[in-house]
Amino acid sequence: MTKKIGVIIGSLRKDSFSRKIAKALTRMLPSSFEMEEVEIDELSMYNQDFDDEGTPPASWTAFRDSMKKYDAVLFVTPEYNRSVPAVIKNAIDIGSRPYSENVWNGKPGAVVSVSPGGLGGFGANHHLRQALVVLNVPVMPMPESYIANVATLLDEKGTLRDERTQEFLQKFIDAFTVWIVTHTSKKS
Ligand code: FNR
Repeated sequence: MTKKIGVIIGSLRKDSFSRKIAKALTRMLPSSFEMEEVEIDELSMYNQDFDDEGTPPASWTAFRDSMKKYDAVLFVTPEYNRSVPAVIKNAIDIGSRPYSENVWNGKPGAVVSVSPGGLGGFGANHHLRQALVVLNVPVMPMPESYIANVATLLDEKGTLRDERTQEFLQKFIDAFTVWIVTHTSKKS
């Protein structure tokens, strides 16, 4: 059966490098996997009152429902000020509540950080991993993926053209598919 991966992109920018890397990864998947972007741009900021009062905004409910169809989750994110952009943390927080309905619970995950700079978003990558522990996401430990100097890896159309990065990302996504099968085999 086809496994579905939801990809959460930590950037709302129309020309986002992170989205371009996510698209490259999607093209590398074997046919037994599908990957699509989970929309997070309409999510209002998390406020616990709405959950406590049983009046969550429609955007939160739609997001929580949409996450149910995915077998796994991939986070592709830039780094903002050495940490995770607010949009991705907001989506994580909304998905984590109500506590008993944590949408992330048990879904195998992986993290790719992307940066035009040389450090490859290391800070964002590891702050994200820290949150995923308490949400019970089994996050693939290796290969780690820090995509540095991303602007130099793409052609003028925004397509990944750097061969070494292509080879690396192919290994990364292959390992992730194995990780997903391993961590969902009890459920299927
Ligand atoms: C950045 N950027 C950035 N880059 C980085 O490598 N480390 C960092 O800490 C930061 N901090 C940061 C803060 C804020 C508020 C902005 C707007 C940007 C630069 C960032 O990596 C760059 O804008 C990317 O292009 C953003 O990713 P997308 O939108 O291309 O996916």
